[in-house]
Amino acid sequence: MILDSPRGIHVAIIMDGNGRWATAKGQLRTAGHIAGARTVKKIVEAAPDCGIGTLTLYAFSADNWRRPSREVGLLMRLFRRYLVSEVARCVTNGVRMRIIGRRDRIPAELLRAIVNAEQATRAGRTLDLRIAVDYSARDAIIRAAQAIDPVALSDPASARAEFAKVLAYVDHGIGESKDVDLLIRTGGEQRLSDFLLWECAYAELYFTRRMWPEFGPVDLSEAVQEFRSRERRFGTVPQAAAG
Ligand code: FPP
Repeated sequence: MILDSPRGIHVAIIMDGNGRWATAKGQLRTAGHIAGARTVKKIVEAAPDCGIGTLTLYAFSADNWRRPSREVGLLMRLFRRYLVSEVARCVTNGVRMRIIGRRDRIPAELLRAIVNAEQATRAGRTLDLRIAVDYSARDAIIRAAQAIDPVALSDPASARAEFAKVLAYVDHGIGESKDVDLLIRTGGEQRLSDFLLWECAYAELYFTRRMWPEFGPVDLSEAVQEFRSRERRFGTVPQAAAG
């Protein structure tokens, strides 16, 4: 069943800088991820007040499996802990949780927590929270290309919308596609790293040097304010120049 999405913009965040934040303080990288999980809670709580209806967080890319197994193990435990500990708060606050990305390589315990959190929060209408785990935009596009019926692409007027639907389905298990309005990346790097490549076609990009563990609600609000001050033209001309 597809229910209405919450109103508000779609913000996607590449949560980068946990490791550097920790090592700069003389701590293990894993301490940075633990601090990063605390930031996730604060940002999820602050998102609706910033006018955000959908928040997609890049928690673990398909390439992140190549990290040391100790770090990967800790991240999987952190994701599980987050889902288990936040589910009640999400129900109360109307947050619908969903995980996007592949599911076949995820540890069984985490998978159980995912299914439970998605089920328990499915009626949430204040914020759509999507957490990308074992995610690769390129792989998702390939899976959609393999799955789609070519007939669905035969009409140029509807081909993009049809493809987006299939992409959302193969990746999110829901036939509901959402373009990103604002993409934020913390940690100072300025790249997309295989995140929501299709959905970011017209996203406004916002890069900040702030490391993810120190990114807070004020930073989120500043990013959204900056987004609102930008003119989005989607390939057309400014209103004043039209005609
Ligand atoms: C990138 O920073 C961050 C990750 C690969 C993991 C993101 C995980 C969290 C924010 C913690 C928990 C998340 C949830 C959803 C509860 P990095 O480690 O690559 O940082 P670096 O570039 O400084 O090394």
